[in-house]
Amino acid sequence: MVAATLPTLASAVLDLIEARATSDPLNALRDVLHMYVQQFHSTGSLVQEAVDDEVLLHVSPSLTVYHITLSPGVQYPPHNHLMDALVGIYKGSEMNLIYSPRDGSRVSAATRQEVHAPSVIHMDANAVHAVANTGPGRSGALHVYLGDLPGTRRQLWAADGLQPEDFDNARYLVGARPIALNSNLEGKETS
Ligand SMILES: [Fe+2]
Repeated sequence: MVAATLPTLASAVLDLIEARATSDPLNALRDVLHMYVQQFHSTGSLVQEAVDDEVLLHVSPSLTVYHITLSPGVQYPPHNHLMDALVGIYKGSEMNLIYSPRDGSRVSAATRQEVHAPSVIHMDANAVHAVANTGPGRSGALHVYLGDLPGTRRQLWAADGLQPEDFDNARYLVGARPIALNSNLEGKETS
């Protein structure tokens, strides 16, 4: 009898690279991500433990893949990606705050989305969002971007959503704060 092969982050990245090269990359990536999210979810644990909340697994001009394990109780600053993004959550949950434009370059949080594993969500290129982990333990997710995210000039806002600055990863990580929820936000559950 041949033992079943456990899915790995390395095999996920290879399959995502292949999906990105198809004629319908968004749907192909979504399908691959969905499959790995289900498989990783079934293990009941993080695929890889790391000290950092985010680990860059792959970057090319057309694809970026991170393994994200958010610390509980922490909320990151709002930011944009300027490219399509897929978030596949396989352990715990991520709270996704979707921001809307206000006057000028300001943004404000409009929608709170609780995304429970196993699930895959899509954000379009114009989305401004912030992530947090409201659960009791570290969450586990693959974040997939259809472009070179680290190499793209994009924006980061302070928690108050006022003046945007050029995105800087060190400032993004330093901007992590204890979760502060606005109870007036419209909320929805995804699972
Ligand atoms: Fe993001």
